[in-house]
Amino acid sequence: MLDLKISDLKPLFTEDELQKRIKEIADELNDFYKDEEVYLISVLKGSVFFAIDLSKHLTMPVCMEFIRLSSYGHGFKSTGKVNAVDISLPDLNGKNVLIVEDIIDTGLTAKFLLDFIDLNFKTKSTKFCSLLDKKISRQTDVDADYHGFVIDNKFVVGYGLDYLGFYRNLPYIGYVENADKK
Ligand code: IMP
Repeated sequence: MLDLKISDLKPLFTEDELQKRIKEIADELNDFYKDEEVYLISVLKGSVFFAIDLSKHLTMPVCMEFIRLSSYGHGFKSTGKVNAVDISLPDLNGKNVLIVEDIIDTGLTAKFLLDFIDLNFKTKSTKFCSLLDKKISRQTDVDADYHGFVIDNKFVVGYGLDYLGFYRNLPYIGYVENADKK
């Protein structure tokens, strides 16, 4: 039985707030890339809702790729170790690569992925876009080129973000009060 109920969540971003901000990010990306081809790499599972909603507003030719990494253990804290579950990618040499994540927390996942791409490909450009950014928890020097919202060090769920695999399907984002004390 899950020890976190939907009614335990405090509201953070409504569906409308998320969608409005996603459209703004897409406008920035459309401005930046113009008509150039983009390889959009969505990091499963968390970023899938964001990547899909964002991609619908993009006006350049977009090739969607999905990779699977995991760093969260069983609960509210990162394991501090990134696990590449499936990182098969096409040839990204000379391509514009846009990595799409749900959240940057410690930054370990972002760093792992940016290093992996840097080591394996000579891209035309590599940009990192995260819906949420917990800047305060950063343990690396990576930063998002694009982000939706900077948030405090709260444990958040919904819109792709999970608790023990649950609640990704919520169309809004809520947070768990005092998750650090649980
Ligand atoms: P990082 O490697 O510590 O930056 O963490 C990145 C990954 O941890 C994200 O892609 C999420 O899957 C997960 N994560 C970080 N913070 C949260 C949270 O508050 N709720 C749910 N998942 C989170």
